[in-house]
Amino acid sequence: MKKPTPLVEIAAMGRYLPDNIVTNDDLAQGMDTSDEWIFSRTGIRERRISPPEGLGAAAMGAAAARQAMQRAGIEPGEVDILILSTATPDRWLPSTACDAQALLGCTNAVAFDIMAACSGFIYGLSMAEGYLAAGRGEIALVISTEKMSSIVDWEDRTTSVLFGDGAGAAVVRLANGANRGILSSHLRSDGNLADLLNRPGGGAQHPMSQAVLDDRSYLVRMNGREIFKNAVRSMADACERALAQAGLTADDIDLLVPHQANIRIIEATAKYAGIPMDKVYVNVDRYGNMSSATVPVALDEAVEQGLIRPGSHVLIVAFGAGLTWGAMALRW
Ligand code: UT7
Repeated sequence: MKKPTPLVEIAAMGRYLPDNIVTNDDLAQGMDTSDEWIFSRTGIRERRISPPEGLGAAAMGAAAARQAMQRAGIEPGEVDILILSTATPDRWLPSTACDAQALLGCTNAVAFDIMAACSGFIYGLSMAEGYLAAGRGEIALVISTEKMSSIVDWEDRTTSVLFGDGAGAAVVRLANGANRGILSSHLRSDGNLADLLNRPGGGAQHPMSQAVLDDRSYLVRMNGREIFKNAVRSMADACERALAQAGLTADDIDLLVPHQANIRIIEATAKYAGIPMDKVYVNVDRYGNMSSATVPVALDEAVEQGLIRPGSHVLIVAFGAGLTWGAMALRW
């Protein structure tokens, strides 16, 4: 099969992680859990938490984006489109993208949020690709920023121990014939499974009320076991399709950068995709699940560590609430 020619490329990445580290032992002081349980079931040792008075979603995202723009050598005014993915908007109106735009000074950009939960970065990259490929602009900023600590139920040990805060960003531009960039993209969603991971209260259907506050339904609720099964099935399928679309096989992949929710999910996905664990980037031990920020933060770290180099074939894959999932093959 003829290899596709990339239309857009990632020019540079950036990330922001709050300084505040919360270990499993720290959590065990306030709830009935243990480092042994959390680590053996999830692979998580610690996570970063932005305190309530710390940076919010827009500011964390802007910090990651500033680093990406500096590395790409572009000025804020050059950004044509700013796509921000978050499950934790700072406020319900306007979009967090517009708040980030103001912080960054990207005054010439169209800015908007996308809500695709943990798959948000891959969705955002794909939207940027389409916009630029259609000739609507030359430079896109894709930001994923998540303050999960603000929406998890800290009285629920089955969910709160899994998540962390952080942000990642990518400067995306037209490839202009450079033989690097996005080779394939496979995105899917299934709204029939929305109730497996959601925040039932506090939105338009069940507006904030004393009842919603009392039953804590404005916070994250998850059926962990069902999510686990669906995550492995969907991500394995997405990897296969993204590889086929790119004219690649698992052996061609130099690094798999999967969504970081649980080491057992990562290992199962890699196994189904036919990629050995020494070619899989893992940082879930240090950050937990930062929803859509996991993939860009992991990509950025992998580039910094020299695990991704010019010419590397990289497969990214994610899965999350919606349900949503997707994968992309890239040549770096
Ligand atoms: O980005 C996508 C979002 N989410 C995910 O990817 C999560 C997907 N799911 C998972 O990662 C796993 O299902 C979990 C890590 C959430 C749970 O692991 P599990 O092996 O499926 O455990 P479980 O839910 O079957 O719970 C086993 C036991 C239960 O006790 P009993 O009923 O067997 O007595 C839980 O009450 O572990 C108990 N438990 C805990 N114990 C100590 C649940 N949470 C904790 C905890 N500490 N934090």
